[in-house]
Amino acid sequence: MGRLSGKIAVVVGGHDGIGGAIARRFAEEGATVYATSRRAEEGDVGHGAGTLRARRVDASDVPALAAFFEAVRNEAGRVDVLAVSAGISEFATLDTIGEDHFDRTFGLNVRALLFAAKAATAIMPDGGSVVLVGSIADRIGTKGYGVYGATKAAVRSFARTWANELAPRNIRVNVVAPGPTDTAMMAATSDEVRETLTKLIPLGRMGRADEVASAALFLASEEASFITGAELPVDGGMAQV
Ligand SMILES: NC(=O)c1ccc[n+]([C@@H]2O[C@H](COP(=O)([O-])OP(=O)(O)OC[C@H]3O[C@@H](n4cnc5c(N)ncnc54)[C@H](OP(=O)(O)O)[C@@H]3O)[C@@H](O)[C@H]2O)c1
Repeated sequence: MGRLSGKIAVVVGGHDGIGGAIARRFAEEGATVYATSRRAEEGDVGHGAGTLRARRVDASDVPALAAFFEAVRNEAGRVDVLAVSAGISEFATLDTIGEDHFDRTFGLNVRALLFAAKAATAIMPDGGSVVLVGSIADRIGTKGYGVYGATKAAVRSFARTWANELAPRNIRVNVVAPGPTDTAMMAATSDEVRETLTKLIPLGRMGRADEVASAALFLASEEASFITGAELPVDGGMAQV
């Protein structure tokens, strides 16, 4: 039996990259997974022991997000597991940061994540689980990623508060915090940034999306039944040693 057998899961930003790997892993473990993104073609396919249901929703459009969760409630009745992975990271040093950069980054990484969590936990039964994708960028001060790092510090803070608020319902809230991970987001950075980052990773390479998905699965599953408000780094030791 899969570790998420019979569960209804939502992965916001679940088409490719880290969120895509999480969605696939959850389905392999038996969940019915609603995976949202802006561009994926909509449709339902069997994957492993579960099902992947691709839905097109721009997470930064809060009314559209609310309508999506209403549709999930009508179709599936509840959300047992929520993972929020949709996020953007754009380079801008303090002297170049504009309002658009700030609004876009906080709008998706923080505002959308907050309203996804609000909508999902409104239809989450007791014993559910929330996994937020943070980043070690919240504490390492990488030049040019100040706004991005600040959004991830907000994510870490939300997890602490929501873990407290939702504990009476036995809903656990945790953060998985990747270090540099080989996805389209990382491919969009310069060779120089990638080389510099890789040199700082004790294990000597970037992470893979499926390695982050393994940590998210652990936190989402009953194996982590006494873990809430925590952060699990998946960073090859970069921010740990
Ligand atoms: N890669 C890294 O090195 C790294 C390190 C630490 C933390 N993280 C975090 O991990 C998360 C995922 O990053 P990633 O590297 O997997 O990124 P990615 O490769 O760019 O994938 C992002 C996914 O989110 C979806 N998405 C983007 N904007 C969206 C929106 N407005 N609404 C709904 N879906 C949206 C994308 O699909 P569409 O484009 O079709 O919408 C895509 O499926 C982010 O929160 C990021 O901050 C990444």
